[in-house]
Amino acid sequence: MKVLGIETSCDETAASVVEDGRVLLSNVVASSMDLHAQYGGVVPEIAARSHIEAITPVISEALETAKCTWDDIDAIAVTYGAGLGGSLLIGVLTARSLAIAYDKPLYAINHVEGHLYANFLTDTTLPSYVLPGKQPEFPVLGLIVSGGHSQLVYFRDHFDYTLLGQTNDDAIGEAFDKVAKILGLPYPGGPSVSKKALEGNPQAFALPKAKLTNKYDFSFSGLKTAVLRLAQEQIGEDFTFPSTALSDRLSESQKADIAASFQRIAVETVVDKAVLAYEEFQPKTVIIGGGVASSPELRRQLSERLPLPLTYTDPKLCTDNGAMIATLGCYKAMLGADASDPYTLDIAPNLSM
Ligand code: KG4
Ligand code: ZN
Repeated sequence: MKVLGIETSCDETAASVVEDGRVLLSNVVASSMDLHAQYGGVVPEIAARSHIEAITPVISEALETAKCTWDDIDAIAVTYGAGLGGSLLIGVLTARSLAIAYDKPLYAINHVEGHLYANFLTDTTLPSYVLPGKQPEFPVLGLIVSGGHSQLVYFRDHFDYTLLGQTNDDAIGEAFDKVAKILGLPYPGGPSVSKKALEGNPQAFALPKAKLTNKYDFSFSGLKTAVLRLAQEQIGEDFTFPSTALSDRLSESQKADIAASFQRIAVETVVDKAVLAYEEFQPKTVIIGGGVASSPELRRQLSERLPLPLTYTDPKLCTDNGAMIATLGCYKAMLGADASDPYTLDIAPNLSM
C-alpha cells in the first residue's frame, strides 16, 4: 500500500510517499518561512501564493524520490483542516484533481491527528533520518504541541480516541513565537528561544502556571503576559512600556535567563498534564507530535518524568510535513475507512479533533 500525502495547511508545501504506514519513501518540504520572517509571523496571502508555485514540483519530486509512477500509488491523502483557508484550498484542490485524473481513492486527513502519525514511521530508504525502532502500541497517549495546537489525546486504537484536554487560548508554539518577539529573537521563535535558553538559568525567574477547570487543559496567554511584565521589570519600566522596544534595552544575559525560565515553565505545563494522564490511563506508549516535539527540553522533561521508555521521531517529521499525512492515509486505506468524494471534498479551516 503506497500513499501519496499532501500537506499545505500553513506555510509548508509538502508531499511524501509512505508504504504500509511504516516505510518513508520520500519527504519533500518547500517552506515559505523566509518570506514570512520579516513580518514575524505567517502572512496567509503569501503562504497561499507560495503553495500555488510550489505544489506541482513538490509532488513530482516526492514521486521521483520514492521511485514511483502514478501506477504505483494506491491512494492520495490530503490535509483538509485545520489550517489557513487559502493554504488548505491549494492542497485539497490539487489532491481532488489528481484523484480524479488518476482514478485513486482520496482520504481527507485532520492535520492535528496527522502530527501523531509521524511516530508510526520506523523504516526509510532516505539518508539522514533517525526513526524509532518500533511502532507505538495501543493504547497510546498522544501529546500534540505545535504552532497552532496543544492537545492531549488518549487513543484506544486507530481512529478511536478521546480528546482529554487542549489549550484554552494560545498554542505552546505560539507562546514560544510571542516570547521570541519580546526578546527580539528571530522567527520562528521555538528554535531561537531554545537556543538562547542554553545560555541562561532556567531557575532565574519564577513564572506562573495556569490552573484550569479541566485538569488536562492548558493555557499559555497568562505565561506570555507574565514574560512581558518580567521583561519590563528587568529594565526598570512599568506595564506601559511598549513590548516592541524591550529587546534593545535587555542585556543578552537577561534575555537568556528569561528564555530559559519561560521554556522550563511552558514545557512543564504540558509535561505535568501528560504525567497526570499517564497515571490515570496507563497507556502502553506515549508519543509526541508537532513542531514543539523537536524541543530538546520537552524530550528531556518527558523522559525524566515518565516511567516508561520514550522514543522520539526525527525532528524533520515533527514540523509540518506530508509524511505524517501519508502515514495516516495508509491506515485509513488499510483499515477500510471511508474515502472522500473527489468532486465535493471541502476544506475545514476550524476542524477540531
Ligand atoms: O507543527 P508546526 O510546524 O506547525 C503547526 O502545525 O503549527 O509547528 C511550528 C511551531 C512553531 O511555533 C515553532 O516555534 C515551534 O513549532 N518549534 C519549537 C521548536 N522547533 C519548532 N518550539 C520549541 N522548541 C523547538 N525546538
Ligand atoms: Zn502542524
